[in-house]
Amino acid sequence: MLPQRVTLVEVGPRDGLQNEKQAVEAASKVELVHRLQSAGLREIEVTSFVSPKWVPQMADNAEVMAGLQRQDGVRYSVLTPNLKGLEAALPTRPDEIVVFGAASEAFSQRNINCSIEESIERFRPVVAQAQAQGLKVRGAISCALGCPYQGEVSPDEVERVVRLMKGIGVDHVGVADTIGVGTPRRVQAAMERALRHYPLAEVSGHFHDTYGQALANIYACLELGVHTFDTSVAGLGGCPYAKGATGNVATEDVVFLLQGLGIDSGVDLDRLVDAAHYISGVLGRKPVSRVSNALLAKRTSSVAEAA
Ligand code: HMG
Ligand code: MG
Repeated sequence: MLPQRVTLVEVGPRDGLQNEKQAVEAASKVELVHRLQSAGLREIEVTSFVSPKWVPQMADNAEVMAGLQRQDGVRYSVLTPNLKGLEAALPTRPDEIVVFGAASEAFSQRNINCSIEESIERFRPVVAQAQAQGLKVRGAISCALGCPYQGEVSPDEVERVVRLMKGIGVDHVGVADTIGVGTPRRVQAAMERALRHYPLAEVSGHFHDTYGQALANIYACLELGVHTFDTSVAGLGGCPYAKGATGNVATEDVVFLLQGLGIDSGVDLDRLVDAAHYISGVLGRKPVSRVSNALLAKRTSSVAEAA
């Protein structure tokens, strides 16, 4: 039995646009969020409060948050790697914050400039202060299926970080295949380690389609009952510290899969394709989504037929 309902956490504005070489105006990011919420997405990762020297693409974080016309029932989340990030984020009124660690030491050093243990000590007061303000805390575990520097990453390494995150009170863990090397059975093995410590509703999957495995991996998670996934409109993104980590799985592709399985995600695919078309126009390229490109081609041909 697969879940009947799935929650999609749209990460395009953050995980997608953090990786763009060209500058994207804050107004375009705000417009993207508006289009995503009008397509029915109810969880949107908007931006990150990280060092602008490390990730200049997210330097407009406060401006983007201030520009949002918030819709009831939508949760807006932001990444906060340390107390400085949380202090900057709080006045912008996020509903949720995300601390992000890694299952590989090498990636932790490259991405956040500290060891896994040190990252947990940095997150501890961030989690406590965020929760004291009534915010939910998600913990992302990057490189859970493989690391661009270390290579293989074992389920034991994933469970170690899950346990550490649980120990500091993180509410939800996201198992992330940052370089997209996971395959279904290996993904299930990693997920099962997270599920030893967190209930189904508090474990999510974050897949990259680098090797074309993302949808198969999501299906493998559905088989376990996992029903929350991070996805990125138009397949935007990657990670600036993970070479070759092209392509978060496209939200459109996941919505199409879920529709075919009769699983409700609350997302209107047509409006979502509009959002993908919009941001792809801003970036001057086609969406990295088979579904968007197929549906956009169909729209063009029906317009041509009608003319
Ligand atoms: P650091 O250099 O070790 O930090 O960086 P520091 O505390 O020594 O501070 C150095 C400088 O940064 C100081 O400024 C601080 O004020 C400033 P200076 O005195 O040199 O002018 N600083 C900050 N500025 C703004 N906001 C902050 C902040 N903290 C310090 N929060 C740090 C440590 C974590 C800050 C840095 O390594 C960093 O910002 N890394 C960002 C990494 C990142 O954003 N990566 C992408 C997100 S993770 C991801 O995409 C993967 C994921 O999506 C999963 C997947 O896709 O698979 C989660
Ligand atoms: Mg990602």
